[in-house]
Amino acid sequence: MGQEAVERLRREIERHGPITFARYMEIALYDPACGYYATGLRVGRAGDYLTAPETHPIFGWVVARQVLELWDFLGRPAPFVLIEYGPAAGELALALFGYLARTAPEALERFRYWPVEPSRPARERLVERLAEAGFARLLLDDAPEPITGVVLANEVVDALPVHRVRRKGGRLRELYVAWDGERFVERPGPPSTPELERWLVRLGVQLVEGQTTELCLASLAWLDEVAARLRRGYLLVFDYGYPSPERHDPNRFPAGSIRTYSRHTVGDDPFADPGGQDITAHVDFTMLALAAQDRDLVPLGLTTQAAFLAHGGLGELLVALQTEPGMTAERYLVARAAAVHLLDPAGLGRFRVALFGKAVSPTLLPSGFRERLLSGVPLTRPGAEGTR
Ligand SMILES: C[S@@+](CC[C@H](N)C(=O)[O-])C[C@H]1O[C@@H](n2cnc3c(N)ncnc32)[C@H](O)[C@@H]1O
Repeated sequence: MGQEAVERLRREIERHGPITFARYMEIALYDPACGYYATGLRVGRAGDYLTAPETHPIFGWVVARQVLELWDFLGRPAPFVLIEYGPAAGELALALFGYLARTAPEALERFRYWPVEPSRPARERLVERLAEAGFARLLLDDAPEPITGVVLANEVVDALPVHRVRRKGGRLRELYVAWDGERFVERPGPPSTPELERWLVRLGVQLVEGQTTELCLASLAWLDEVAARLRRGYLLVFDYGYPSPERHDPNRFPAGSIRTYSRHTVGDDPFADPGGQDITAHVDFTMLALAAQDRDLVPLGLTTQAAFLAHGGLGELLVALQTEPGMTAERYLVARAAAVHLLDPAGLGRFRVALFGKAVSPTLLPSGFRERLLSGVPLTRPGAEGTR
């Protein structure tokens, strides 16, 4: 157990009384001294879980092809800035730049990169790895002015702090975190902010008696930041999650969607090891789309990761690997197994990929969005203004 995180949380509760779950999550994950992300490199085979970019660079190669299409839609600007939120140690960026260096070096020369990563060990490792791979020149020295480019976020929104709410006795209650002398426990109370009820109403979510769910108000502040950084371009979000009707379905998620990750084992007790395990909640893609729209980030597409990768050229890349000089049967089989995992509708394939645009044509969509899911999320239709 992360003893320091336990003490830090206990002190905060002793001083202020029960804290919101969002505050608990913020400290357990991001406190600079004892938070899960602040104290180590967490992803990867030696870490607690494998993300899509960690599975195999082929994921980043497909993303590179999509980013290249977006660069084209924007008229091939130079510089073209890629901001990546939560890059960790840079697996996605390294695969993406590696692919572009091999296939589109003239485009890559116009790219600049600005990673936004709160975890210091991860940030330091990322900078080292970019230098080792010969991509240090792409790193911007200072935070860019509002950019023309693309903002990427892979498995970041599901790591943002969430508030937990439950319908009890016909009323909406918030689940705070208290300390009972031995362990952290949930403590229902009145909502800490009217925003919670307001969002449930806006999303058309009616919780059934006893149902618990989460709302990610932190994603609103995050979208404020993204919208302010983007002058013209796109936001691409990859994550666990569903549109509201599924995300808050009482039959599917009666107790909400909090999941913990530790040494490649999934759990559901966020109080088990604060500071020592990851805590996530599925993304509500309807909420994300509505909030994005409020900030002039127009929702353009929502699809599954499997469809995004399949239409974005995963199969083609796999075939091309077979004839790559120096390819061995073993390396090819590793890539093929990764592709199967990435496309698996019960595995990483069920992730969602959302595309938002600011000051861009709503009729141009990259190939990865050929199959768009429309239900539950307001989207601009190609060839038409407005939403549905
Ligand atoms: C689950 S990891 C994903 C890492 C990487 N994108 C990947 O897919 O391998 C989540 C990452 O998001 C970062 N993160 C959390 N909140 C963030 C924020 N507000 N802005 C930027 N990054 C954030 C964490 O530090 C962590 O590196």
